[in-house]
Amino acid sequence: MAAVAERVFSGVQPTGNLHLGNYLGAIKRFVALQESHDCIYCVVDLHAITVWQDPEELKRHTREVTAAFIACGIDPTRHIVFNQSQVSGHAELAWIFNCVARMGWLNRMTQFKEKAGKDRENVSLGLFAYPSLMAADILLYKATHVPVGEDQKQHLELTRDIAQKFNVDFAASIAANGHGEGYFPLTEPLIAGPATRVMSLRDGSKKMSKSDPSDFSRINLTDDKEAIAGKVRKAKTDPEPLPSEEAGLKARPEADNLVGIYAALSDGTKQGVLDEYGGGQFSAFKAALVDLAVDKLGPIAGEMQRLMADTSAIDAILIDGAARARVIADQTIRDVKDIVGMVRG
Ligand code: TYM
Repeated sequence: MAAVAERVFSGVQPTGNLHLGNYLGAIKRFVALQESHDCIYCVVDLHAITVWQDPEELKRHTREVTAAFIACGIDPTRHIVFNQSQVSGHAELAWIFNCVARMGWLNRMTQFKEKAGKDRENVSLGLFAYPSLMAADILLYKATHVPVGEDQKQHLELTRDIAQKFNVDFAASIAANGHGEGYFPLTEPLIAGPATRVMSLRDGSKKMSKSDPSDFSRINLTDDKEAIAGKVRKAKTDPEPLPSEEAGLKARPEADNLVGIYAALSDGTKQGVLDEYGGGQFSAFKAALVDLAVDKLGPIAGEMQRLMADTSAIDAILIDGAARARVIADQTIRDVKDIVGMVRG
């Protein structure tokens, strides 16, 4: 494998209702990685349309995710922020990967099974091929590290499978074109910390999600301080005091979730939270969580609102980011065309 510099890539879908799970599982970690890596953060509008989106809403949500990135602390001048459809290489490489990935691999994807449900015959072909486009997003930039929440783990394993099969299928051509033993890196998922799977505030057995019909199930990044405080106060709990050891959270999904949220928001660990609040009443812990959540999340909504007031400034950020992304992407597409055997000018 040719030596590759470390590069981070990750994406967020512009499908509305960005929430605390997206923040703790992904965006907050995107911010931290800026200090140690070259980062590319993408608003994945091509992924969003695998399920029908209202065109005006799609534009608004694309700008809203961009505003959230910036409000949370991503610096689009030092790193790259753009929307996927502005760099055509994503769609081109996805097609090539559709011809590398096997039906059997995609048939195993649990997210597809969940999203398609009983209506498999009627979902878009794009929804089935979704993970192949995701592999293209990552490998177009030869990203080595991808920060995501737990729910994306299987997609990242598939990305490695596609990279590996491409490297094997075209090994001779890769070498003949001067790329050594492998063209694509085997990407490392970065799934770490106390909040890789934030659960619904109403039901500790369900993931916090953009599409849950109950707004009380999630804290939206657009919620103001009153809304945040109200949702934390109303969050489902059980009648027991908090345990002193992490093992005591095992059969208590709601308590486990809130302790994980506290730990992630305060950059600590679940055990650290229990050292402070274990043995005490839930009410005291919840009051502290209300203060912490309002303190950390409250300013994000205000900043997003300020940024959203100037959509042309947001669009300029995406256009500039896309231009810089394209420089890297175009080189990969040229290399891949040569490797696969496509005549080009
Ligand atoms: P999306 O838009 O559903 O979610 C964006 C990020 O948020 C994480 N996440 C969560 N983390 C913890 N707890 C939760 N309840 C929770 N809900 C969501 C997701 O894991 C994700 O990191 N397929 C991706 C988008 C994508 C992508 C990529 C990601 C497209 N191409 C390439 C990485 C690399 C998705 O649907 O994320």
